Formats: sequence, structure tokens, C-alpha cells
Amino acid sequence: MTIPVITIDGPSGSGKGTIGQMLARHLTWHYLDSGALYRVLTLQALKAHVDLHDEQHLAAMALHLPVRFVDDTTHHRIFLHHNDVTEAIRSEEVSRATSILAASPLIRTNLLARQRALALAPGLVTDGRDMGTVVFPHATYKFFFIASASERAERRYKQLQDSGVAANYDAILIELEARDLRDQTRAVAPLIPAFDADILDTSGMSIDAVFHYVLAKINPKATIL
Ligand code: C5P
Repeated sequence: MTIPVITIDGPSGSGKGTIGQMLARHLTWHYLDSGALYRVLTLQALKAHVDLHDEQHLAAMALHLPVRFVDDTTHHRIFLHHNDVTEAIRSEEVSRATSILAASPLIRTNLLARQRALALAPGLVTDGRDMGTVVFPHATYKFFFIASASERAERRYKQLQDSGVAANYDAILIELEARDLRDQTRAVAPLIPAFDADILDTSGMSIDAVFHYVLAKINPKATIL
């Protein structure tokens, strides 16, 4: 049986994570935040003081990454061993280091099987950078979200402020553009839309508007979902 998969790729702050989680709940499908896998690996490496350029060591860690995703009706929480690292993996330090580590072909290869294993019945919604191009090239429906860098930085700034973390808009914008560039220009699985992806610019759109757009697009496919 072919498991239906919906992929949402795009740069950080484009809305893919928020919409991916909403969609998975709406369809009562599984959800994979692939960025979290790379982030957890980075956090584990930082904690263990592993050199972020030691590809062999990191790739071996990737094969046995003790990560768990735990979903309830409202939250998607991420565990490394028994520790809830949902917030810890979102720090600027982890974000920056993750995009360096994620450029390694060996590490990416070693995370492939784990990602594909999450395509379970009744279906999977997943977001990342290469979900539609590399991990699930035969996905049922592929979205690629974009948004202006200034709006994405603004979203991140508000998110940090709302959670009581001091934030600097200019620093966020610079860091976000540097990360985009690294993700777009790496040799393996760069951030680019799949040829058959539905590209949506979410700049100026509310979460509800994006969600309705996505639902309208996948509904005609309902017979195969
Ligand atoms: O999506 P998120 O911002 O959590 O991803 C963090 C980093 O992980 C990205 O900047 C990117 O370098 C890497 N990543 C990736 N491939 C994915 C998902 C994330 O390379 N499928």
C-alpha cells in the first residue's frame, strides 16, 4: 500500500512548520518536522563537544540518534533521550550550527531511512528543505513556501518576544539571510522547490489564509488521500 505524503518545504519563517502541524492534526496523519532531526543531532553534538566538522563522528551519531517525537492533541514535543528539548533546539546557536552540519552528504544519507520510516498509515505531513526533492520525491502533494526575509525575521522576532526572550530584529535578519544562503547553495539537497511543487508566497498572508489555500489544493486529491 502506498502511504500518502504531503511535503512542505521552504526557508525558516515561511510558515511551513505551523501549517504542517495544523494539517497533520486536521487529517489525523503523522507529522515529521525534519528540521528537528537535524537540530537534535546538532544539540547532541554541542553537548558532547563533538567537532561540528567531524563528519564521520556526526554521521555515526545520526544513525543512532535517540530522538522521539511525542504528539498530543495540541502539542508536538521533541525528546533527546528522556529530555524534552523542544525549546532548546530552537536557540540561535543551534540554528546556526545546524545549517553548517546539514551540508554534510554523509549525515544527510544517514538520516534518510529514519525520515522515510515515518511514512506510516494513514499518511504523513512533513516539512523541511528537501522533503519534496530528495526524501519523498513521489509525494502525493508538494508545497514550497516562500516569504520575504523581512517578514520572516519579523515573525521570528515576535515569536521570541512572545516567549519572553530578548530579541534583536537586525541580528535575526542577518542570521536568517546567512542561513538561507548556506541552505540554498550547498551541493547536496539544497533548498530549492521540486519541479512539481506548488509555490506559495506567504508574505502578508494570515495563518488561516495559508491553511485554507493548502486545504483547497489538496481537496481535489481527496480520492487518493
Ligand atoms: O526547518 P528548520 O529551521 O528547523 O531547519 C533547521 C536547519 O536544518 C535548516 O537551516 C537546514 O540547514 C537544516 N535542514 C535541512 N533539511 C531539512 C530540514 C532542515 O538541511 N529537510
